[in-house]
Amino acid sequence: MVQYHITGGKPLRGTVPISGFKNAADGILPAAIMCDGEVHIENVPCIKDVLLWLDIFRQMDVKVTPQGSNTFAIDATTVNTETPPYDLMSKMRASYYLLGAMLGRFGKSTVSLPGGCEIGERPIDQHIKALEAMGAEIDITGNIITATATDGKLHGAHVYFDVISVGATINAILAAALAEGNTVLENVAKEPHVVDVANFLNSMGAHVRGAGTNVIKIRGVEKLHGCSYAIIPDQIEAGTYMAFAVATGGDLTITGVIPKHLESIIAKFREIGAQVETSDDAVRVTRPGRINRATVRTEEYPGFPTDMQPQITTLLCLADRQSTVTESIFENRFKYVTELARMGADVVVKNRVATVYPVKGFHGADVRACDLRAGAALIVAALAAQGETNLSEVGYVERGYENIIEKLQAVGASITRVETAD
Ligand code: EPZ
Repeated sequence: MVQYHITGGKPLRGTVPISGFKNAADGILPAAIMCDGEVHIENVPCIKDVLLWLDIFRQMDVKVTPQGSNTFAIDATTVNTETPPYDLMSKMRASYYLLGAMLGRFGKSTVSLPGGCEIGERPIDQHIKALEAMGAEIDITGNIITATATDGKLHGAHVYFDVISVGATINAILAAALAEGNTVLENVAKEPHVVDVANFLNSMGAHVRGAGTNVIKIRGVEKLHGCSYAIIPDQIEAGTYMAFAVATGGDLTITGVIPKHLESIIAKFREIGAQVETSDDAVRVTRPGRINRATVRTEEYPGFPTDMQPQITTLLCLADRQSTVTESIFENRFKYVTELARMGADVVVKNRVATVYPVKGFHGADVRACDLRAGAALIVAALAAQGETNLSEVGYVERGYENIIEKLQAVGASITRVETAD
């Protein structure tokens, strides 16, 4: 078993470099196998999700060539679609992007889908709605989903999503890029990683316009060609290190970011008492006084991101007065609160609303991560806590945070990664 052992109470000071965005890589990597040529992708975060993508590609006879740290050449000229590695696909939700990618390129795709996870049921009805509108026939047997273009190739469509969904938006863009004719997508997600996937596809010769706005228009093209591309920085990783700085009363300069992507996070952090200075590609975060109470509501971009909800809720446990956090995106994203309570938190959850009662501080405890951002939140608490914390199930954390131990140790955190027999 792997655990993080953390001794809290030390203000973090120094500089933290931010890696490529996990949720952008989750869309760009499957998009890379839509072209029968070589693409060079830089700023790829070396995290479990990415390593899983590369294993899936190797099992599909896609050529993957590491080119120095964080850069990979990917050549899917001879991709084998006949034997999808279901076991690997079922380990990652984002494998559903192979539906749009392979359906778009070959007119058929079979993937295995994981069920919902710790944060909610996470249906894929909007993905199916878009793909069927483009002429796909969908069959779901067990957790295997097979999509086939009834005319051998997808055709353009006008899709109005019932729910704003990052995944469905990206999947539809992938499928439409090589479809015959024009596609219009409305009520779409506007996250920076949606824009990043669209920009990557356009670098390969696709014709995607309007990503980042309410309406995305795609003119299908015949083929895609190779390209070189760099993934955008991870604004959720950056926000998480901002939370580490605030939790410990430290002084962190977080580099390699796009401040525009952090606007809602910066605004909320200033509201709770952080001092945030921004420059072209960095933010500097300190917390001179107490943490102020706040009302938080997660929203689709450009609102406050759901992927920062566990981290901000943890900080608000240390505020001077009672706070309220509403999780409007996922129906079950407060499970980590029971673990936080073992460290001294006092949070009462009713449906999607958490009432956060102020406590004097956290104390160390043995806790476990129940999902990626829940693990990050427990590290926020452990770094602020008096005493030792042992965090288990850290595999969740390592799905999305590259070199988190080294990055934290470099700014003074007392954290080690310990493998034990059991
Ligand atoms: C992406 O998940 C991210 N994952 C999530 O990040 C993130 O929390 C989420 O977007 C919201 O920003 C990746 O990008 C790999 P959605 P996704 O479809 O695409 C409902 C992290 O911690 N919905 O935007 O699965 C859904 O149930 C992870 O980095 C439908 O009803 O999220 C949810 O309530 C966690 N039908 C809401 O939409 C559908 O067909 C938003 O989900 C699809 C979604």
